[in-house]
Amino acid sequence: MKAAVCTAIDSLEIQEIDMPEPGSHELRVRIVAAGICHTDLSVMRGNFDVPKPVVLGHEGCGYVDKVGPGVTAFSVGDPVVCSIVMPCNACPQCDRGALSVCDRWFEVAFSGVMPDGTPRLERDGQRINSFFCQSSFAEYAVVPAAGAIKVRRDVELEKIAGLACGISTGLGASMIRAPVEPGAVVAVLGAGGVGIATMLGARALRAKRVIAIDNVPSKLDTALSLGAATDVIVAGPDVVEDIIRLSPSGAGVDFFYDAVGAPSTMETGIAATRNGGTVCAIGIMRGDIEYSVPLRGLINEKIITGTNGGSIVPRRDIPRFVDLMMMNELPFDRITDRFYPLEGINQAFSDLETHQYTRAAILFED
Ligand SMILES: NC(=O)c1ccc[n+]([C@@H]2O[C@H](COP(=O)([O-])OP(=O)(O)OC[C@H]3O[C@@H](n4cnc5c(N)ncnc54)[C@H](O)[C@@H]3O)[C@@H](O)[C@H]2O)c1
Ligand SMILES: [Zn+2]
Ligand SMILES: [Zn+2]
Repeated sequence: MKAAVCTAIDSLEIQEIDMPEPGSHELRVRIVAAGICHTDLSVMRGNFDVPKPVVLGHEGCGYVDKVGPGVTAFSVGDPVVCSIVMPCNACPQCDRGALSVCDRWFEVAFSGVMPDGTPRLERDGQRINSFFCQSSFAEYAVVPAAGAIKVRRDVELEKIAGLACGISTGLGASMIRAPVEPGAVVAVLGAGGVGIATMLGARALRAKRVIAIDNVPSKLDTALSLGAATDVIVAGPDVVEDIIRLSPSGAGVDFFYDAVGAPSTMETGIAATRNGGTVCAIGIMRGDIEYSVPLRGLINEKIITGTNGGSIVPRRDIPRFVDLMMMNELPFDRITDRFYPLEGINQAFSDLETHQYTRAAILFED
């Protein structure tokens, strides 16, 4: 099968690799579309440590093509979204229902292997690493059945690939992890795919005002045209004052979501949020970023939290996100505004860096 193999930092080539076989409790999925998330780009650029060679891609959706031993809940032909939240269902976090922080997940997602600890991809006997136990920049992906979510047949899969990661992360940030209260004033820093999904979630929960902030004006135009934002700010040196000016009491916003993930953006968030308000970290531009929290902010009851994958319970939340999309209550299908063939993946990454689209997906032929 054809796959985009990241052989080293900044090097991505289309190669013919062996067709993977699903192991126990795994599925093989014929990929229809695989969204491009900034995290793929960050790995390619060396900002996260992932063993190479690796097939990136963690926003796959498609049709079940083969089921591995022990799989009873799926049949060949089922349409599925391959969520990055893939619970082991055996660790203390899974026991308490916190599937997005499954202990096993943190051990395997960036390690190149599948949940059973073994690799799945190879070419001429040479091991190729998996990414998020998925690697969907390929015609077929082997994934844990625990992270595969069946979706209704009347949905166009290429519109919902982002539910595997970025779109669910944004929706879950503002609807599940730090759920917006009706009438709240919300700011979202970063109007890429994740940020705009966060805004749509906030609107769905009836935020009074959703302020989109980005340093690229065209991203803000999209936030407005999708009805995700009510107000926009081009980020500049006065960004904190600009946000506070739009908060009705002049005391700061009720909820702030950082969909960029740099020390400066967290600093902006904490400064622009009212006492007792919530700052939710979503973005992380490098694996090693640290930020020191001003203690005064905590004493003043600011809540600082974060989310992995939107803190979703995938089997509960992905189908309901799809239903809400089909009801036009959550129009996240309009976020993905660019499609590329697998051969165009290097162009897709460079276009992401130069802000040519809000979110893109690799589209595979039938
Ligand atoms: N927590 C999670 O589980 C999770 C899931 C998916 C993505 N992420 C992370 O979320 C972040 C966003 O992902 P994305 O796919 O939407 O990325 P993206 O590149 O599509 O969007 C980022 C946006 O932020 C803007 N931006 C960048 N730096 C800025 C700054 N200093 N000030 C203002 N605007 C700035 C860019 O112009 C762009 O519009 C990335 O860090 C990604 O790795 C986290
Ligand atoms: Zn992602
Ligand atoms: Zn677990």
